[in-house]
Amino acid sequence: MSAGAASGFLVIGHRGARGHAPENTLLSIDIGIKLGAHWVELDVQQLGDELLLMHDLRLDRTTNGRGLLAEYTFEELRRLDAGQGQQIPTLQEALDLVDQRVGVNIELKTWGGCASAVARVLRDYLADGWPAERLQVSSFHLPELWEFRQLLPEVPVGALVCGVPLDWAGAAAELGAASLNISDEFVDDKLVTDAHARGLKVYAYTVNHPDDVRALRAQGVDGIFTDFPDRALKAIGGR
Ligand code: G3P
Ligand code: MG
Repeated sequence: MSAGAASGFLVIGHRGARGHAPENTLLSIDIGIKLGAHWVELDVQQLGDELLLMHDLRLDRTTNGRGLLAEYTFEELRRLDAGQGQQIPTLQEALDLVDQRVGVNIELKTWGGCASAVARVLRDYLADGWPAERLQVSSFHLPELWEFRQLLPEVPVGALVCGVPLDWAGAAAELGAASLNISDEFVDDKLVTDAHARGLKVYAYTVNHPDDVRALRAQGVDGIFTDFPDRALKAIGGR
């Protein structure tokens, strides 16, 4: 997630702009971009051949549906309300809406085949001229990211971690990751220094308080995932 911010500090809209609109919807992405986010982060799940934006495995929290997403057909899911009359979007609809205006971080939420489906879609966008450095694929499931790297090595990957595994640096290096995407509570000076020495960026999630945005930036963190891109930009004097 290198390109995007003049200051070098990336403000990444979490699930679009989750603080302002229903998460992972086209409305949320649109608002995130309008508020000035340099990138948007989107959670992606696979259902058959389709890639859908959805954080939870269950539908209950974010839609008027009930139960597991995997138990529905694509057509049934598309009839659900994901908030404010929004449909659950496909990854392609999201990328078409963004249209290269900001970078897109695609977080893989389902595993086993998801990497190849995402690689297939992204290959088309790269062929249409989308710069690879304006995309990132991330996951907590590092083997899935490893598979993605084999399929589409030009698109950077981010190793998601919550906590600090014993050999986090070794795992990220083995993966050829461009960044460590880490829960903000686990960021410390040593981790940032070590990551930078290995050529890894550090992006922290999910950071909503202006004081925390400023503190992480002062610590040398390269960017943050936030539900409120406008507040984060204001905190750093970016907009
Ligand atoms: O990618 C950063 C962050 O989105 C990871 O956690 O649960 O919000 O998808 P989660
Ligand atoms: Mg996410």
